Amino acid sequence: MGYFAIALTLIMAVFVTAIYMVEAKVRDRDLAERSAAVARLFALKLDSDGNLMRAVARAMMGNQAIAEAFHRGDRDGLERNARDLFETLRSDHRITHLYFTGPDRINLYRLHTPAEHGDRIDRTTMLQAHSRKQAVQGLELGPLGTLTLRLVMPWRQREHSLGYVELGEEVKHLIDEVGDSLAVDLVVLIDKRYLERKQWQRGQALMNRQGDWDRFSSHVTLAQTSRLPTGLDNRALASLLNGESARIAEGERSLHMAMVPLENAAGHPIGKLAIMRDATALEATFNNYMAGVVLLSLAVAAGVLGVFYAALERVERDYRRQHELEHRLLHLDTEHQRMLQVEKLSALGTMVGGIAHQLNNPLVGVVNMAQLAEREAEDPARTRELLADIRHAGEDCRGFVRRMLEFSKISCFDSKPTDVAALIEDTVLMFRQTEARHLPVEVQLPDEPPLLTIDPILIRHALFNLLQNAAQATEGNAGITIRLEPLSDANSGAPGWSLSVADRGRGIAPEVMDKIFVPFFTTRSDGTGLGLPVVLHVVLLHDGQVTATNRPDGGTLFAIWLPQADRHPV
Ligand SMILES: Nc1ncnc2c1ncn2[C@@H]1O[C@H](COP(=O)(O)OP(=O)(O)OP(=O)(O)O)[C@@H](O)[C@H]1O
Ligand SMILES: [Mg+2]
Repeated sequence: MGYFAIALTLIMAVFVTAIYMVEAKVRDRDLAERSAAVARLFALKLDSDGNLMRAVARAMMGNQAIAEAFHRGDRDGLERNARDLFETLRSDHRITHLYFTGPDRINLYRLHTPAEHGDRIDRTTMLQAHSRKQAVQGLELGPLGTLTLRLVMPWRQREHSLGYVELGEEVKHLIDEVGDSLAVDLVVLIDKRYLERKQWQRGQALMNRQGDWDRFSSHVTLAQTSRLPTGLDNRALASLLNGESARIAEGERSLHMAMVPLENAAGHPIGKLAIMRDATALEATFNNYMAGVVLLSLAVAAGVLGVFYAALERVERDYRRQHELEHRLLHLDTEHQRMLQVEKLSALGTMVGGIAHQLNNPLVGVVNMAQLAEREAEDPARTRELLADIRHAGEDCRGFVRRMLEFSKISCFDSKPTDVAALIEDTVLMFRQTEARHLPVEVQLPDEPPLLTIDPILIRHALFNLLQNAAQATEGNAGITIRLEPLSDANSGAPGWSLSVADRGRGIAPEVMDKIFVPFFTTRSDGTGLGLPVVLHVVLLHDGQVTATNRPDGGTLFAIWLPQADRHPV
């Protein structure tokens, strides 16, 4: 039971762990897919915003007043004619930078910081537009720690470069929109190797920000839609930078994080875009689901254990009952053996008593008569008489001893196919010669008397004994009936024949009935009590049976049953 419980617990644990792992994998894949979506949408956003800036730049170049002011190098004119447009772009499209720059890349006018002008611009986008003579767009990292999507469009007239129009948009605007669209928070992390600490700190002060340069060893936060979790340390950051995803607890919240690379306009990697997904609700649902699975597993395990326990108990109960039964049977068997022993001893006692009785009576007579003969020796006639009596007694003893010897010889028999009808007729004939009263004997035979493999001498002897007993029990002149008929064995159904002897005598008393087959049991003064034991012995040698019953209309019926099948001598 213990082993079964352990095995069941292990199976359940494996089952629950498997579910947990599958779920965790599904969550990881979901985050990976979301990260890929962020990267795609961010690139799309860069493209679409760049395209918007191109359209705006072209529109400005087509504006007569702005074009004339630019040609003249008229800052006031640019201010007057472009200001409204710039303010609309700033409020509606978050375009934060607008430059008018000369063909020598010297800045003419900045609408976002009108006071600064006259400097040479040598950012990547400007240099590329200058050399390629076409519009260039891309992310530009500023020394003060700004990241801006810039478009620089050359202003040309008939092969002549008039200068450049440049527009810029802070990356914060881009990550806000992408984050909103995909329901994630985004943080721009810049590799410190592309920034200088002092410049960056100056930029933070100018923009009124409190960025922490020392929080991470390799990167610094530049823009974010939400704070990075406080639990994110250098080690966790390193594994995220390696492309792995992480689950970080932030108070009650659980954040799943991953990163996608960030490149500047020149195609150089400058940092990472960190993606944070609030998985608190998802995890709560998952935890509830897992708790349900665990409870269900426990209930199933308890049910299975219960059923198994009940079955085991039943088996044990059955086993105990069987064991008890076997024990009782063994006990009964021992009792039975003891009873048989007692019965054997009592039969032996009866036998010895019988022999002693049979021999003692004539011997007592012999002694008495010998004493009388001594005393009356003078009377020769009396002495002869007594001597004749003594001889009779001796002959009785010899007869008894002969019968006993006959009894002991019965075990060797010689069976052969025998006409049973003829055997009966012979026996009746012999019986009539010895029986003084000439009692009528009726023989009832079947139409086709059988040929049975038997020992004819033994069976005749048995039948003769039954006829003798019947005659001895009969008072008056009542007849005896012998009947031969086919009869199957009541128990096995084996075919056979019944040979019965019925008399109309006194019957057998119930208390006597149990003892009639015991050797030396007799109710007759001149009987030896060996007649029926001989019958029983002969019948058993033939694999048959013998029964005695009192007939309802008076008298006794002895029936010998003999099997039909050919016997083989034992
Ligand atoms: N046909 C019968 N009717 C009534 N009692 C019988 C009959 N056959 C046998 N018995 C009883 O069974 C006893 C035993 O019979 P069994 O033939 O063994 O011995 P026995 O006839 O007494 O002596 P033996 O046969 O040696 O002369 C008889 O003494 C008698 O009481
Ligand atoms: Mg007898």
